[in-house]
Amino acid sequence: WAAPQRLLIKGGRVVNDDQSVEADVYVEEGVVQEVGPNLNPKPPSGLTVLDATNKLVIPGGIDTHTHLQFPFMGTTSKDDFYTGTKVGVCDHICPSSSKGNCAVSWFSHCNKQSGYPKVPACYLGSFKGFACCQKQMVLLQLELYLPYNTCTCKVYLADKESIKKLLAMGITGPEGHALSHNEDVEAEATHRAIAIANTVNCPLYVVHVMSKSSARMITNARNEGKVVYGEPIAAGLGIDGTNYWNEDWAHAAAHVMSPPLSPDPSTPDFLMNLLANDDLSVVGTDNCTFDTCQKALGKDDFTKIPNGLNGLEDRMSVVWEKGVYSGKMDENRFVAVTSTNAAKIFNLYPKKGRIAVGSDADIVIWDPEATRTISAKTHHQANNFNVFEGMVCHGVPVATISRGKVVYHDGVFNVTAGQGKYVSRPPFPPYVYERVKQREEVN
Ligand code: URP
Ligand code: ZN
Ligand code: ZN
Repeated sequence: WAAPQRLLIKGGRVVNDDQSVEADVYVEEGVVQEVGPNLNPKPPSGLTVLDATNKLVIPGGIDTHTHLQFPFMGTTSKDDFYTGTKVGVCDHICPSSSKGNCAVSWFSHCNKQSGYPKVPACYLGSFKGFACCQKQMVLLQLELYLPYNTCTCKVYLADKESIKKLLAMGITGPEGHALSHNEDVEAEATHRAIAIANTVNCPLYVVHVMSKSSARMITNARNEGKVVYGEPIAAGLGIDGTNYWNEDWAHAAAHVMSPPLSPDPSTPDFLMNLLANDDLSVVGTDNCTFDTCQKALGKDDFTKIPNGLNGLEDRMSVVWEKGVYSGKMDENRFVAVTSTNAAKIFNLYPKKGRIAVGSDADIVIWDPEATRTISAKTHHQANNFNVFEGMVCHGVPVATISRGKVVYHDGVFNVTAGQGKYVSRPPFPPYVYERVKQREEVN
């Protein structure tokens, strides 16, 4: 790992979640040393200078939700810790798997199947519970009662009776996946998780909020003062579940994930409005890629199609296009939902999620005017399909800096497997726990 000793980003507009200023940024030893106008660090020799004129200088994105190299449904997801961290990073931990080849910083949540009880969640700062079908619902309740840190909760419920009926009717294709998941059930599980968490004064973070009804539950809970956060994903904000009825089986199957994308085409816009208004807090991806051959494990039965899709590389562009370019949110809110809020909720702030003196130099130089067309032909992920294929996005990263090192510039990557650094997260982030502790005290 050889970060340049000294780096100057000149002439850009530095955007944090709370303000934007025209300023240069000076970095030494991977840490921001100065932010201000017309910086002129001495000596000029040995100084790497990046021109950010007419560009935004924003904190590096934090993807709160990925499954890299993830053994799942009889196969393993395509993007590994190298390709996944090269383009984007956080993972739901599987303690047995090696993460030694990460390309940029990463952190983990602990999840039920693989981690607990081997990895005490208090060391990881967050714990992932599931509200799956029937029996496992009970597990969710038990987990939430544990005095762990912020519980992240996923809800995906397929109705087993519907599955039986659909298969008996000969509906074996990906549309059966959408038809067997009822949005009301996602909402009911979200409501239940919120009610239980609130009863025991435990903060809750709901991953991949996919439906209007589930998002409404979170909105209502926040309005009632409950400490709850909702995470839409890039796919849920950019595309919809009508793709499950695509005539091309491979296309339809590539979109299979749980909970499914909503077949209601107005859902992405609805979720983006809530994200803009702070009803939802953070954009993840749930990146869990399987190629067409892997998806074909379920060619005769939709319940066997490995669940998961992409998002890591395109998350920021999709949020800029659908959120900022559309006029729903400003550049500061963009930074809040793509990095700052994640850093605050998962206790990485202000080391991550902010450009300020003393923060890690994880920085993106962002061109808000440039456009690019997303395609599997040109993406850098390991999969042969991209669910955003053909989407024209304003907002293009020009350069990416990881702990002071330029890891991407004008189409060229400069990353090495193994240079990523694990970011440890102390438990009880103040952003989440100030209110929780105070309530405990006064109650
Ligand atoms: O369908 C999904 N969400 N796939 C990712 C793996 C998981 O368990 O979340
Ligand atoms: Zn996930
Ligand atoms: Zn998930």
